[in-house]
Amino acid sequence: MASRKNIKLALLGIFTVFSVLWLISSTFPKVDGTTGIDPRDVPHVLPNTNADDYVGSETCAACHEDQFKSFSETKHAKLAKLGSWEGKVQGCESCHGPGKNHVDGGGDKSQIISFTNKTSKQISESCLTCHAGKEDHNKFRRGDHWRNNVGCTDCHSAHGAASHPTQIGSITNAGIDSDFKPGTGTEKMLKVSEPQLCISCHAQTKSQFSQPFHHKVLEGQMKCSDCHNAHGDFELKNARLAVGGDAACIKCHTDKKGPFVYEHLPITVEGCATCHNTHGSSNPKMLKRNQVRQLCLECHSSIFEDDLAPGAPGFHRQDNVRYQNCTICHVKIHGSQTHPAFFR
Ligand code: HEC
Ligand code: HEC
Ligand code: HEC
Ligand code: HEC
Ligand code: HEC
Ligand code: HEC
Ligand code: HEC
Ligand code: HEC
Ligand code: HEC
Ligand code: HEC
Repeated sequence: MASRKNIKLALLGIFTVFSVLWLISSTFPKVDGTTGIDPRDVPHVLPNTNADDYVGSETCAACHEDQFKSFSETKHAKLAKLGSWEGKVQGCESCHGPGKNHVDGGGDKSQIISFTNKTSKQISESCLTCHAGKEDHNKFRRGDHWRNNVGCTDCHSAHGAASHPTQIGSITNAGIDSDFKPGTGTEKMLKVSEPQLCISCHAQTKSQFSQPFHHKVLEGQMKCSDCHNAHGDFELKNARLAVGGDAACIKCHTDKKGPFVYEHLPITVEGCATCHNTHGSSNPKMLKRNQVRQLCLECHSSIFEDDLAPGAPGFHRQDNVRYQNCTICHVKIHGSQTHPAFFR
């Protein structure tokens, strides 16, 4: 009993340390209220250039009509109308650098920053000069996508999506209620709308979401990004979490949020995915095992004695049907306010 307490205390300690770290890391996002990005962090002119070297997006339009057209639809283009961005480098030249020499040279390729020969990390770095300050993106360099050379422009279209097909590809499992409409691909400048965007690289998830019991992602009722942060996170699997394993889940399943007077330890410590396959499962309630008791006995067994989990009491004879369906009695399996064995 004493050692169980110690482990709990140790876990609480670890939890506290991480909470504090998280608080520190998220207290200083640079936000100006209008754009989420503080224009004061954006250079007035890029290093080694003069204000005179900038010609403005309209000038580029003369020769690059397509890029200009799609760009005009984006939030990037709208910055020009915001007072707080006045006098700041924006438009085409905020990414491509000053264009005067390029234009004077009749479109001299060597006189403009081109991304066609840049790596995905280099392109991402150029986006992060402005976007790193925002909480959601300052973790990008910690995520799996960054580590595996998936960059901003693998998911976003640098000029906006107007030059890309607005008709999304078909999805086999689309339900009648599907809220995918032509044109949603242009949202947030995404190249393709979710979930197709993600599935195009994570093909195996499509079969997981086609299991008999699944979250309705392919049907369009929720998105991958409801649970994952495509921009990376401290957390495993880029799950969209604040602290602990479950912030993404309890956003929708609020009754599982707690805090409970009597907590079922694996939920607070290991998280929902200990017992559920959250993409989809062939078992009801998306459980990892097809019988509830299999799941429970993996931890609560006198044979495979778990350090933390007590074995089921002796009177729980497993040859007796009465004791096979654990959650008939242990109803509040996610935690209870009133009963230590989760009866109510
Ligand atoms: C947010 C940063 C950003 C802005 C703003 C931007 N570009 Fe680009 N541009 C890129 C990137 C990144 C590429 C590389 C191609 C890609 O990844 O889509 C690119 C590619 C290009 C190309 C090469 C051909 C092509 O389409 O791939 C041209 C030409 C171009 N941009 C012109 C412009 C013009 C003109 C504007 C303003 C109307 C503009 N860009 C605004 C980032 C930007
Ligand atoms: C007078 C016409 C003209 C104007 C104005 C002009 N460009 Fe260009 N631009 C060109 C030509 C021509 C090319 C070379 C195309 C080629 O060789 O494939 C080019 C190439 C580029 C490329 C490189 C594309 C690549 O293949 O990597 C970028 C980026 C670019 N322009 C951006 C801009 C931006 C930003 C502006 C405005 C500041 C601008 N251009 C204004 C004519 C122009
Ligand atoms: C000059 C600074 C700057 C640069 C460089 C920049 N952005 Fe942005 N971007 C902004 C601002 C400001 C906004 C609007 C505020 C926001 O949504 O966070 C924005 C918005 C966006 C949005 C949201 C669009 C929407 O419809 O909600 C996306 C996506 C985006 N940028 C992607 C990129 C990518 C990809 C790059 C690099 C190719 C890039 N940005 C480079 C300043 C910049
Ligand atoms: C793996 C795909 C992926 C990559 C890589 C990616 N994004 Fe996104 N981004 C998304 C998706 C999906 C959304 C819309 C859902 C969301 O907000 O999470 C989004 C939304 C955004 C938004 C709008 C956020 C808001 O609050 O409205 C901005 C800004 C943005 N991305 C910028 C970037 C920048 C900058 C990079 C590179 C540093 C980047 N993204 C890399 C997929 C991606
Ligand atoms: C209901 C929440 C939820 C949704 C929606 C969701 N995921 Fe996940 N995903 C998770 C959780 C939780 C894990 C971690 C599972 C674990 O640790 O066993 C995970 C794991 C993953 C992994 C890691 C590989 C693996 O199987 O462990 C990938 C890749 C992934 N998800 C991609 C996606 C894609 C792509 C989509 C959309 C098509 C998506 N997810 C939608 C919750 C979700
Ligand atoms: C251009 C390809 C590409 C796109 C698009 C893409 N991913 Fe990824 N993603 C990867 C690669 C590569 C990795 C790292 C290798 C791996 O674990 O599969 C990764 C890793 C992940 C992981 C972590 C997996 C783990 O095992 O920890 C998650 C979660 C994830 N992606 C979710 C998403 C979501 C959600 C989207 C859509 C918004 C998305 N991805 C779009 C290529 C992509
Ligand atoms: C965007 C909201 C949302 C998020 C986030 C979410 N869920 Fe769900 N979940 C639902 C909805 C809606 C259902 C209803 C079932 C359906 O779609 O058929 C559901 C169903 C379930 C079920 C099956 C319930 C039953 O009665 O069969 C389980 C288990 C579950 N979710 C666990 C999770 C876990 C674990 C996470 C976090 C990884 C999570 N959910 C994240 C919305 C969400
Ligand atoms: C210790 C294993 C375990 C963990 C961890 C766990 N669950 Fe469950 N969950 C179950 C079992 C068992 C059931 C089926 C209960 C039954 O048979 O009625 C269930 C059922 C559900 C249901 C559907 C029935 C209901 O009560 O609404 C949802 C939704 C759900 N879980 C969400 C979650 C979420 C969200 C988390 C994380 C906060 C989580 N679960 C963590 C074991 C677990
Ligand atoms: C991942 C391992 C794991 C799984 C799976 C699991 N439990 Fe637990 N359970 C624990 C741990 C650890 C404790 C905490 C013991 C403590 O608080 O000292 C616990 C506590 C309990 C308690 C309260 C014991 C007490 O201290 O009075 C009951 C009752 C219980 N679990 C029943 C179940 C049932 C029924 C299932 C199946 C639906 C289940 N558990 C699944 C690990 C697990
Ligand atoms: C018919 C009702 C019933 C069923 C079904 C049932 N239990 Fe129990 N369980 C009890 C009772 C009664 C207790 C004692 C509660 C107490 O001490 O307050 C208990 C206690 C427990 C404890 C706590 C032991 C401890 O030392 O604190 C665990 C663990 C447990 N059960 C697991 C299970 C598992 C696993 C299953 C399914 C295989 C299951 N129970 C099925 C009634 C049931």
